[in-house]
Amino acid sequence: MYICPVTGGRLVNGRSPEGRRYPALDGIPVLVPDPEAFLARHGPGAWDLRTGLPTRIIEDLPVDAPDPVTPHLPPRSLGGPGGFGQWLQSLGDASPTSVCARWGTELAPPGRAVDIGCGVGPMTRRMCATGRVVFAFDRSPRAVLLARDLLLGRLQETVIPTHRGGLQRVRFPFKPVSDRHLYLSIADATAPPLPPDTFAWVHLGNILDVADDAAGPILLAAVSLLQPGGLLTISTPYDSDVAPVFGSPSPEDELRGALTELRLTIVDEEEHVPWVVRQYDRGYRVLFTHCLAARRALR
Ligand SMILES: C[S@@+](CC[C@H](N)C(=O)[O-])C[C@H]1O[C@@H](n2cnc3c(N)ncnc32)[C@H](O)[C@@H]1O
Repeated sequence: MYICPVTGGRLVNGRSPEGRRYPALDGIPVLVPDPEAFLARHGPGAWDLRTGLPTRIIEDLPVDAPDPVTPHLPPRSLGGPGGFGQWLQSLGDASPTSVCARWGTELAPPGRAVDIGCGVGPMTRRMCATGRVVFAFDRSPRAVLLARDLLLGRLQETVIPTHRGGLQRVRFPFKPVSDRHLYLSIADATAPPLPPDTFAWVHLGNILDVADDAAGPILLAAVSLLQPGGLLTISTPYDSDVAPVFGSPSPEDELRGALTELRLTIVDEEEHVPWVVRQYDRGYRVLFTHCLAARRALR
């Protein structure tokens, strides 16, 4: 099913028809356009390409979450003091992931799903629960390895920050998913290693805003993966660090316009879905995300 992200040729045993070889990192395929350079720069135990000697990791691609467990949890179980904690309780399960998961379950046609920029896998886990064949990828090797270990039950216990500088052990409170229908890879959302026109449900969860200049190419690549009639779900808090400019169009209108230009029809939308990120027991970040579901035309 995987394709070469450079030529589009189908990969057989990690090799493209042109002879390019794609390595694996702890069993996870590394399907970025230049995997050797990528691993030298971002891999654990990176090496110097000229000397062949191990070197420090030049640029660690981080796990973009304070801990791997809380992105999976509903707001009602995130604790929080006083009135703020009560507000979290009142949110129940509401989160960008659960809103988009509901749309995917109810509105996407049967078929494969892909979670682009999966992080530690909160949407991947929900996609697996629908019984679909699920592909998920992220360019952060650490995030994908953590997602794999949590989702498949290899890592039953992990740690979350408590007070500043403190840690607490927690169990991952979800049943493991089966690895029979889950395909994880390390890949770049601007050059997905997956064939176009083949996915019934494509998800972009809080990635467009961290992608800087790549947001447009990522959206384009995500849409290209949709089969006719397929559903794209997006959540974004629009919190990228761009210089403020008077009179710039609202990002909501820009995103709606881009989807229409790509000939997608918006079928559902929620403007202010709270995304609560628990940093530690005295620190929470609440972002109000814009969530959309958009469908590719059948013809
Ligand atoms: C804020 S996290 C969101 C993770 C997950 N989708 C969620 O909603 O919990 C953004 C993720 O996008 C990933 N990402 C950013 N740019 C990417 C790219 N060009 N290709 C693949 N992943 C990317 C980051 O590594 C990170 O895991």
